[in-house]
Amino acid sequence: MKILVTGAGGFIGHHLVKRFKAQGHWVRAVDIKLPEYEPSPADEFLLSDLRFFENASRAVSGIQDVYQLAADMGGIGYITANHASLSRNNTLINNHMLEAARLANVDRYLYTSSACVYPQHLQHSPDVTPLKETDAVPADPEKGYGWEKLFAEQMATYYHEEFKLDVRIVRFHNIYGPLGTYDGGKEKAPAAIMRKVAEAEDGGAIEVWGDGKQTRSFCYIDDCVEGLVRIMASGYTQPINLGTDELVTINQLIDYAAIASGKRLTKRYDLTKPQGVRGRNSDNSKLQALLKWEPKMTLKQGVAKTYPWIWDQLDKQGRSKKAGLSAPKKLSPAQHKARSAARG
Ligand code: NAD
Ligand code: GDD
Repeated sequence: MKILVTGAGGFIGHHLVKRFKAQGHWVRAVDIKLPEYEPSPADEFLLSDLRFFENASRAVSGIQDVYQLAADMGGIGYITANHASLSRNNTLINNHMLEAARLANVDRYLYTSSACVYPQHLQHSPDVTPLKETDAVPADPEKGYGWEKLFAEQMATYYHEEFKLDVRIVRFHNIYGPLGTYDGGKEKAPAAIMRKVAEAEDGGAIEVWGDGKQTRSFCYIDDCVEGLVRIMASGYTQPINLGTDELVTINQLIDYAAIASGKRLTKRYDLTKPQGVRGRNSDNSKLQALLKWEPKMTLKQGVAKTYPWIWDQLDKQGRSKKAGLSAPKKLSPAQHKARSAARG
């Protein structure tokens, strides 16, 4: 099978390329950058900007299956900081990719959307009702990124209805794991928290955006890749959630990272930082019914697998701190108090 993975220099795209190569497929990878942390095993890697139609056209040439993961995206800090440029970039990429795929007569086309398409008014409580696919319309999505994702979903649907393009539309719920961005402004909460924990002194404090009581569900990368392959094989052409339905607070996420590190840490809340919706969870009824499968990895297990990778990355840069309390004589009275509180 000749497969195209766009956004293959990024987190999920790179993992997907590895999966397809392990299965023996021929893979073309496309991105404006190479993977940051290890080389791509793709048969062909085009450094190419998919905002331009001729590049999208070249990318799909001779391809059977398209996995469209190229996007200007990041965590809540990034996607709320540049609505215009992000929306413009992603609208151009998606419109050109769809049209190029249609003209090239590809067999199947998978588009990666986001839980950010769901109405904000359904996500005001940490004790959120899990979001099901039909909740997305009438629309009230995340500003910028959520609107352009919803529009791209609609475009994929129109291409299916009008041109019979065999589409898949997958709504990710916060994917994390090794080889994901952990620094630089685009990182999402799991990687950001694990970076902060790795950099913290044992007995110290880490900065948390918001009050830590906001909730999410997080999905480990191996489950995400498995889900993508299964959804492509399913033949299902409507939007579908891909995530876990394990609702956790950000405080719990931090506690799991602290356990993985072996450190005792306190939390320092910053209410001025971006927080997004108050609660978000995935309703997996459709996924279960369709695939007889759903993501399995718990957040605690996934953090235990991811933390060592982030720690190692930071250690190479001299930024990681080992567990093990330093000499008490170096602590100020306030630090002593914080440490006592952390020890409970
Ligand atoms: P990522 O940022 O690691 O990967 C996206 C890649 O797209 C990047 O490598 C980037 O360089 C590339 N790209 C950006 N503009 C491009 C352009 N003009 N031409 C070619 N390539 C371009 O993100 P990811 O986490 O791997 O996400 C993959 C897809 O999944 C994206 O569509 C994203 O919106 C979606 N998604 C991800 C999550 C998540 O939690 N990771 C959640 C919801 C949706
Ligand atoms: N990024 C980040 N960094 N978030 C933090 C931090 C931190 O240091 N500390 C606490 N948080 C909180 C945020 O304030 C937010 O309430 C929550 O953790 C989750 O933040 P993100 O992971 O950055 O974003 P999100 O869950 O709101 O949205 C992400 O997931 C969507 C899909 O579910 C984004 O990556 C979207 O682009 C994505 O589509």
